[in-house]
Amino acid sequence: MKEQVKTVLLTGGSGGIGAATARLLAEAGMTVYAASRSGKAPEVSGNGTIIPVVMDVNDEAAIASVVSRIIGERGGLDAVVCNAGNGIAGPIEETSIDEVQVQFQTTFYGVVKTIDACLPVFRKQRRGRIVTVSSVAAVAPLPYQGFYSAVKAGILNLTKALAIETRRFGIQCCSVMPGDVRTGFTAARKVAVKATDKNSPYYEYTVKGVEAMSKDEREGMEPEVIGKAILRQLRRRRMRPEVTPTFIYSFLVWVIRRFPQGVVLWVLGKMYS
Ligand SMILES: NC(=O)c1ccc[n+]([C@@H]2O[C@H](COP(=O)([O-])OP(=O)(O)OC[C@H]3O[C@@H](n4cnc5c(N)ncnc54)[C@H](OP(=O)(O)O)[C@@H]3O)[C@@H](O)[C@H]2O)c1
Repeated sequence: MKEQVKTVLLTGGSGGIGAATARLLAEAGMTVYAASRSGKAPEVSGNGTIIPVVMDVNDEAAIASVVSRIIGERGGLDAVVCNAGNGIAGPIEETSIDEVQVQFQTTFYGVVKTIDACLPVFRKQRRGRIVTVSSVAAVAPLPYQGFYSAVKAGILNLTKALAIETRRFGIQCCSVMPGDVRTGFTAARKVAVKATDKNSPYYEYTVKGVEAMSKDEREGMEPEVIGKAILRQLRRRRMRPEVTPTFIYSFLVWVIRRFPQGVVLWVLGKMYS
């Protein structure tokens, strides 16, 4: 019989892709624990329920307490969606190690910490689904967002390796790779301090590149498109290991992987550098 996803822990549920996903999953009848630092969550109509929770994905104790609360209230957990993330822009040379660590904190270690808290539950249940939100930037190395690209490539590969390791315990893993999405992500993006100095040798290229990428995001798709893709995977008997929503972005990923990498870097350079 097809296992049904009823209870979901979703991180970054207060805005953007997370809020849209929480609403869609809840409207599909699921109970969604929507976690974020602010603890805000969207309104929902219909049968489903969104339970807002204050949870910083950098805080292991807070994650453990939310997971045990869910088990206490719901008797189990069917899926986790690791979506919380942020971006830091700046040339690689001018991004300090402290800034690199900030980039990895929420968007990589936060995902690892959330998954770690759920895995013992999923193994015990002998079922569970893990969805991570990566990015097309995982396969398209973005200039002036090199560390963001690195983090998202890490998340993508981590998810696939985890899929192999946990298959024998009945656990499924899927990484969703959004292209440009219109959310608060663009305004929240930080720029490496050194790169804001007008005397930086990268200054004008960074400004131009980040502005072009920000424009693409502002004109990007609605977050519901990604939410629908996540919902589709949670409803499938077997989740795909990797999903790129919309035909155009999945075609782009296909092209990037098949074309000579020199050509890919040349095109990305023309677009953003
Ligand atoms: N927008 C795009 O074009 C795009 C493209 C590809 C991939 N993505 C990825 O999609 C994911 C969601 O991004 P978005 O576009 O929806 O951005 P967003 O609108 O800025 O939303 C980010 C969400 O993460 C939460 N968050 C941030 N830090 C957190 C922390 N430490 N602990 C818990 N929650 C935290 C925020 O809530 P609080 O501030 O309340 O904590 C917010 O709900 C990210 O992983 C991003 O990298 C976005």
